Amino acid sequence: MLKISLRFPEEVRLGRTSSGFLQLTDSQRQKIVGAATAELVSELRAIASGRYSESVLTPEWAGLRNSGWLQTVIESGQGVLVRIRTFAPPAPNTADPTAPLALSRFCTIRRAAQHLVLESPATGATAVIESPDVLALLLLLATSRRPEDLKGVLPDDVLSELLNRFAAVGFLVNSPGTEELEVHSLQWGHHEMLFHARSRWGHRSMPEHVGPSDRLRERFPPLPSRHSFAGAEMVPLARPGSSDTDLRKPFEDVLGERRSIRVQNEENPIGVDELGKFLFRCAHVGSTFSYRGVEYSRRPYPNGGGGHEIELYISARNVAGLTPGFYHYNAHGHHLESLAYSLELVERFSSAACRATTLDIPPQVVIVLAARFGRLLPGYSGMGYATILKNAGVLTQTMYLVAEAMGLAPCALGNGDTDAFAQATGVSPREESSVAEFALGSRPLTGTPDQAPAIAPAGAKNSADGQ
Ligand SMILES: Cc1cc2nc3c(=O)[nH]c(=O)nc-3n(C[C@H](O)[C@H](O)[C@H](O)COP(=O)(O)O)c2cc1C
Repeated sequence: MLKISLRFPEEVRLGRTSSGFLQLTDSQRQKIVGAATAELVSELRAIASGRYSESVLTPEWAGLRNSGWLQTVIESGQGVLVRIRTFAPPAPNTADPTAPLALSRFCTIRRAAQHLVLESPATGATAVIESPDVLALLLLLATSRRPEDLKGVLPDDVLSELLNRFAAVGFLVNSPGTEELEVHSLQWGHHEMLFHARSRWGHRSMPEHVGPSDRLRERFPPLPSRHSFAGAEMVPLARPGSSDTDLRKPFEDVLGERRSIRVQNEENPIGVDELGKFLFRCAHVGSTFSYRGVEYSRRPYPNGGGGHEIELYISARNVAGLTPGFYHYNAHGHHLESLAYSLELVERFSSAACRATTLDIPPQVVIVLAARFGRLLPGYSGMGYATILKNAGVLTQTMYLVAEAMGLAPCALGNGDTDAFAQATGVSPREESSVAEFALGSRPLTGTPDQAPAIAPAGAKNSADGQ
């Protein structure tokens, strides 16, 4: 027998404020429900005990249901099948449950605490799956099905209720339908949609906290600011001197003339002194300070979170005065630490750079931006990784501007080889991994910077002469 009731999700607690109002709280939020009248208390008791039917839903309770304070529990004779929680009013253009349906490709099923949860980043709805029968239904919906094809999987009333509900919260879509046909859906990878939805605030956010948090920081303090590789050979680097004339270009011209320059001057490559000055200007540690027992550093570029989790690594292929190899830039000491004099390794970074630029001649230097996740993630829930990517973008622009001012050839690279980075450093990718790459070298003496697009379309080639 089908039963549908409204109940409080497990994490929601009912209490009273100091002024006597009834209030709901979850791990992140508080919501005053109203004065403690006998009528309200009796309705809340009915909800707490599963006796509140959705058929008598008032606008107030519908509002609480649509913001995740209440969940809809669907039961059959065998017990609870599924508990659905929504965080936004029903979307206007949901699927027609009488037409062919399939599971949305943006849905994920994952373990959360003790439960198996189905969720859709497109609509912000979640469902705790309590019954293998519901899983069996979802399995069938991996391909497009007409509702009548699903008869017999579950009792008719239960089946039709689940199809209606799942369609209403975006778990099911019509197939063929918008997900296969419209560019607004097709352009999104499922992980991109999930990442976007879960790392931002907004009406479709789940109740999990997104923002600075002490949740893990109390148990796992951030990593130290200083990062160095014990035993690595140290290569001292030049610093800019007061007599240097290479940064005399007006800032307006630096901004106006900055371009991505993919072709470099192989005969007269960048020198180790130039590289040293470039790294100093972009990324050296100017000073340090301590806050809540943690060391922080000041560097030339801003950093979301302030932890300066990004480290620079140098894959040097053709640098005058520097042995080809893979190096860590120690920003505190302003020196390089050599991690491998392996041409094979350098070749891996070079070939990834060639793939990104679609050019045959690799850059003289590939600068790898790697994030030490423990410097940021423990203190930022939900948005830590997004912040790291923004921080990488900020440093990338700093490198572009310094390269322009110094007359070097810079080009950001759209992707890189995380396995090569793990091999080069021997560090677990969960602790530290590459998140961005940047090509650097000497500027060709003649010719204008090339005009190629950010990432060339499949099959397209940038012209080798840089035009
Ligand atoms: C994050 C980022 C990634 C980029 N990735 C690549 C790339 O993979 N290959 C490439 O040739 N250019 C890449 N570029 C350079 C862009 O193509 C270039 O910035 C854009 O076409 C504008 O040209 P401009 O930099 O000369 O102003 C990238 C730029 C940025 C900011």
